[in-house]
Amino acid sequence: MTKVPAWHFNEMKFSGVDFSQGEEVAAYDAMHRKLRDYARVSEEIIRLLSLNPGSTVIDLGCGTGAFALHAAGKCRTIYAVDVSEPMLEYCRKQAEQKGITNIVYCHSGLLSYEHQGEPADAAVCIAVLHHLPDFWKQVALTRCCGMLKPGGRLFLFDIVFPSKTDCLEREIDGWINSVETMAGARLAEEAVVHIKDEFSTYDWIMEGMIRRSGFHISSADYRSGVQVSYVCTKR
Ligand SMILES: C[S@@+](CC[C@H](N)C(=O)[O-])C[C@H]1O[C@@H](n2cnc3c(N)ncnc32)[C@H](O)[C@@H]1O
Repeated sequence: MTKVPAWHFNEMKFSGVDFSQGEEVAAYDAMHRKLRDYARVSEEIIRLLSLNPGSTVIDLGCGTGAFALHAAGKCRTIYAVDVSEPMLEYCRKQAEQKGITNIVYCHSGLLSYEHQGEPADAAVCIAVLHHLPDFWKQVALTRCCGMLKPGGRLFLFDIVFPSKTDCLEREIDGWINSVETMAGARLAEEAVVHIKDEFSTYDWIMEGMIRRSGFHISSADYRSGVQVSYVCTKR
């Protein structure tokens, strides 16, 4: 086993919102179901990544299974990776109730998950990368690229700041207000914690990191203000 240096980022210790508590996890799922239609969003990601019944997909930071549980019905195997045991447990229980048996649960993280066997067809990383400072985001993206087949795809979604800084405050306030309208005050408070204590970064930094990790950016969607998604293809 490779020795981890003393200066290595501890991804098991949460920055911002703490997803290591069981109560937080159930509340997270209930609030996010108000914010987005899991099935519709997952279908769109499946289309963007051209996934099919033979595909293997790594869901990095799977959370309660917003994507994994839906994609399991459309793909061969989903590797559900998360640093939070309560999140993984919640996802596993939901899968059991739905009779889903093709999810592999991995208590690990962006900086530690070792993908075994065949490289995967695709990876998704939805609202997770902002948990790492920029230096470690680049490490995580490079590791992710290494887990994929040549031509393999990554769907990346996160809060990303526009380089045109004159609209920054307006975009951030707009996002927090829309979260409050759709999902209530508690999730809006978490959105505030996200901006204050977590590590979202600028679009030009994110794009540079994606490219330097071995990906080509096939498409970038900046239409929803600070909520940004990228479809990336391994070069
Ligand atoms: C905002 S939630 C998003 C969950 C899920 N992707 C979704 O779409 O609902 C962030 C998730 O990332 C996980 N997480 C935080 N840091 C991580 C890391 N370094 N590696 C993997 N997962 C991480 C948290 O435990 C949590 O489940």
